[in-house]
Amino acid sequence: MATVILGVCGSIAAYKAADVASRLVKLGHEVHCVCTPTALQFVTPLTLMTLSRNPVITTFEDETGSWVPVHIDLAQKADVLAIVPASANTMACMAQGFAPNALTSLYLANRAPVLIFPAMNGNMWTHPATQKNAAILAAREHHRIVGPEDSGMLACGAEGQGRLVSVDVIVEEILHTLTP
Ligand SMILES: Cc1cc2nc3c(=O)[nH]c(=O)nc-3n(C[C@H](O)[C@H](O)[C@H](O)COP(=O)(O)O)c2cc1C
Repeated sequence: MATVILGVCGSIAAYKAADVASRLVKLGHEVHCVCTPTALQFVTPLTLMTLSRNPVITTFEDETGSWVPVHIDLAQKADVLAIVPASANTMACMAQGFAPNALTSLYLANRAPVLIFPAMNGNMWTHPATQKNAAILAAREHHRIVGPEDSGMLACGAEGQGRLVSVDVIVEEILHTLTP
């Protein structure tokens, strides 16, 4: 059994993280969801907590149950950190080392492999700033960016690049990282 930290960002695709959590738990893994505050506009902590069978961490106020900061504790326990979906904003924070919330703080404290599954509008993805941040992250040791899809209907109504890869691919990538 491995410990998977599932980072969830503010994207329409955030609901798919619930499916990923459910599948990993059914496969016998320990799953902890760490959401950005914006992610909770898209998916409820109740859903993620129930499916992951663990409390959801979002703000530093969620961390008052123990003297060890939860984001540090989880970072130390992680076998893999998977960001599903990864927003342009969180990728920028990760690339630049900003840590304004529990997820980005955990990212800096983490030394386990990092899987990043971006999802966003095509123009957001192809913007030079996002592309630069993606390149910075992809070049880091034990970091892998999977997706986004090259084509498909986006939630914003546009057709093109930016969709989150399928839940099947996400689960496969996480399992492959756990047992290469
Ligand atoms: C309806 C809606 C959908 C959004 N979808 C995305 C998305 O798929 N990807 C993305 O990078 N940002 C998306 N955004 C913008 C992010 O929510 C915004 O940049 C936010 O600051 C991200 O915060 P986070 O990185 O802390 O989760 C969306 C915003 C709205 C209102």
